[in-house]
Formats: sequence, structure tokens, C-alpha cells
Amino acid sequence: MAVNLLLGLQWGDEGKGKIVDVLTKNYDIIARFQGGPNAGHTLEFDGIKHVLHTIPSGIFHDKAINLVGNGVVIDPVIFKKELDNLAKFDLDYKSKLVISRKAHLILPTHRILDAASEASKGKAKIGSTLKGIGPTYMDKTGRNGIRVGDLELSDWKERYRNLANKHEAMIDFYDAKIEYDLEELENEFFAAIETLKSLTFIDSEEYLYQAQKEGKKILAEGAQGSLLDIDFGTYPFVTSSNTTAAGACTGLGVAPNKIKEVFGIFKAYTTRVGSGPFPTELFDDDGETMGRVGNEFGATTGRERRCGWLDLVALKYAVHVNGVTQLMMMKGDVLSGFKTLKVCTAYNYKGKTITHLPYNIEPENVTPVYTEMKGWSEDLTKMSNKSEFPKELNEYIEFLEKELETPITIVSVGPDRTQTIHR
Ligand code: IMP
Repeated sequence: MAVNLLLGLQWGDEGKGKIVDVLTKNYDIIARFQGGPNAGHTLEFDGIKHVLHTIPSGIFHDKAINLVGNGVVIDPVIFKKELDNLAKFDLDYKSKLVISRKAHLILPTHRILDAASEASKGKAKIGSTLKGIGPTYMDKTGRNGIRVGDLELSDWKERYRNLANKHEAMIDFYDAKIEYDLEELENEFFAAIETLKSLTFIDSEEYLYQAQKEGKKILAEGAQGSLLDIDFGTYPFVTSSNTTAAGACTGLGVAPNKIKEVFGIFKAYTTRVGSGPFPTELFDDDGETMGRVGNEFGATTGRERRCGWLDLVALKYAVHVNGVTQLMMMKGDVLSGFKTLKVCTAYNYKGKTITHLPYNIEPENVTPVYTEMKGWSEDLTKMSNKSEFPKELNEYIEFLEKELETPITIVSVGPDRTQTIHR
């Protein structure tokens, strides 16, 4: 059986968690393939809001197995907090959660290194979530990292000590002086490792291979968004993993020819948290309204998200890089009440009009060219069928489908599981 893939097409926070939760009933396995606790996947149902950082978004369903893939980086301390939160809901997570032995661990010193590196960058800072993501992936590619499977070896604490000592020397190298109590952080870390060890570790690539052979349905879940991809994003203002479709192959060990549907999730407008270029960003009342109505605050850091019009140049790029087969539009309800909607369909780039995403999209290089559309005033949040959609929303959707040459199969009209309309 083929593997379907779900990922974000913008700068993260598109609403992937909600859609994974909605789709999980159709799958046997939900497999997260990259990123770590920098992600904040929000799910809402039965009047309760849940935020997951590392655990796949299918965990609230009875049957599906939730797999944390080799491409993910795990902070045991945050992972334990997530598990403690789940325990409150009387969930038998232990039988439904499996972890790749090849996933790398975020150590307390990775977090400190992240903070020291950011502080040393001054104005050029990335706006990192400071969860230790960059330093952990650096240790992975530098071949120094500690993996989940190492916890089963007798000498893992020795390896830990060697790496932590090296990190301390690196932290001293930075000018930025970060205050920290390593002993306290390590106590918390080692306690959390014991919790992690109570879960099932697997050779996930083999597990997924066998699952495919048995005809199981698998959904690969991405984190962050395509424009934060380490290769294809707005470098250096990106995260440290491949958030695009290829990341599912390397982050799970799934062969490229086994991937069937690629579900691309996008918001009806655009947001970004952290630094970096954002051509359609708004600094006026419209941007303020999007932020307020859309409750645009980071699920992980609480930071205010920057808001702007939908950028079809960037979205088209993401559709192409990922091979998206179906689009899912989130937060259409937030645009209710705007008299006019703007959609960026081209850039003025160094005196020319272009429709592809160029190497430099900083404000001095790019000015967005907008197509204006009539907005709608109807409240979408109570709608349950596409037949109730206002004419202007249908026009907006059809315009996007035509421009992106891809069907929009789901329109989300609110944060709850039930506020999801299939087209
Ligand atoms: P890091 O991955 O924490 O180092 O952050 C690098 C950049 O990616 C920063 O601009 C973050 O704000 C952004 N980022 C990381 N994870 C997410 C996410 O899950 N949603 C939105 N932005 C994110």
C-alpha cells in the first residue's frame, strides 16, 4: 500500500495538526518525519485544545499507531511533558506510540548552544524557537549525535558526557554569556530519559516496509513549512531539516516511488514567525485584523505571527517542489469581512515582472503584484457543506485552483475537527 504525505506549504503554522487529526480515521499509521519540539501542532475537539510538539497528530484516535521517525529530533524533557499531558486524557499512548532508534536526541547543551548562537548573531538572528534544533541537526550531520537507539547501549552516558563537555567548550567560545545550571538541566534530562525508555523503540524503516507489505495505510506528517526547508526555504532564515516531500523519504526510510498523494496545507492568507523576508507582509489594519481574528500567536513560543496576503508565487513554488496532488485551505473563516482580498500573483523583481520565486526575495529586490478579488461577509464557521459557501469564497477558491493547477479538496472554517468541509 502506498504512503500519503501531508506537509505545510508556507512558513509553518498552516494547520497541519488539525488535518492529520481529521484524516487519521483513514490510516493505520501516522509517521512524523522531521523537525522536533520547534513545532506546535494544534488540535481541537470536544471543546478542548491540544498542542503537540513531537508526538504525531494521530495520537487521539483509538487505533492508529503513531511513529516518530528517524528524521525527527527529540527533546526527552519536552517529550515527557507531552506524555504527561496525554496521561490526563486517559489515553493508552504506550500501545500506540513507537519511536525510531535512529532519531537523534536534543541534549540540554544543544538548547544552550542554540541560545548562544542566536544571541551572537545580533540583528541577523534567525528568530529560532531556541529548542536546540539547529545544534542537534549539526551534530547529526557532523556525526557526533546521540540517537534513541544509543540509550540501549551500556556506554551511552559516557558518550553523553563527552558530547556535553564538547558543547560546554563551544558555549564558552560564543561572546554571548548564557546563564545556565547544567546540573539541574541534566537531572531533568536523565529523569525524562527514563520515561522515554519506557516506550517502544523500533527499527522504523523496517517497520514501515513491513507495514506497506501488509497493506497498511500510512500517512507521513511533516512539521514547519516548505519555505522553512533547509535547502528550498528562505535561507538562512529557515529551520535545519528538509520540510519538503523529500524529507519524508529520508526521515522515514520510505522509497520515493511509494509516495502516492501529497497533501499540501496552506492558509488562505500568509503568516510567518521569526525573522526573514516576507514579500506580502502587511503593516496596516488588514494585517492587524488577520492576526487578531486568526489568533496568530505561535503555539510553541507564544510569539506574535507576522501576517500578510496570500503569496501565490511562493505557494506555486511549494506546490512544484513537493509535487502536491491535493490542496487543503485553512482559516478561510478569518478572511470573512474583508471587502477586498488581495492575492500576490507576480513579483516586480529588479525591474522585471516574474512569476517564479527568485533567489533573493528581500524587500529591496521584490515588490508584490496583486490581483484584487471581492471578499465575503458571511461567517463561515457554522457552515458544514460547500453548498453554503458564499459566491465570493467559491471564486477565491477556484482562482487559486486555476493558478496552482491543483484541486483544493478540503476547506477548513474553524479550529475544531468538525469545522472541516470536503469538496
Ligand atoms: P528553529 O527551527 O527553532 O531553529 O527556528 C528557525 C526558524 O523557523 C524560525 O524563524 C522559527 O520561527 C521558524 N520555525 C521553526 N519551527 C516552526 C514552526 O513549527 N512553525 C512556524 N515557524 C517555525
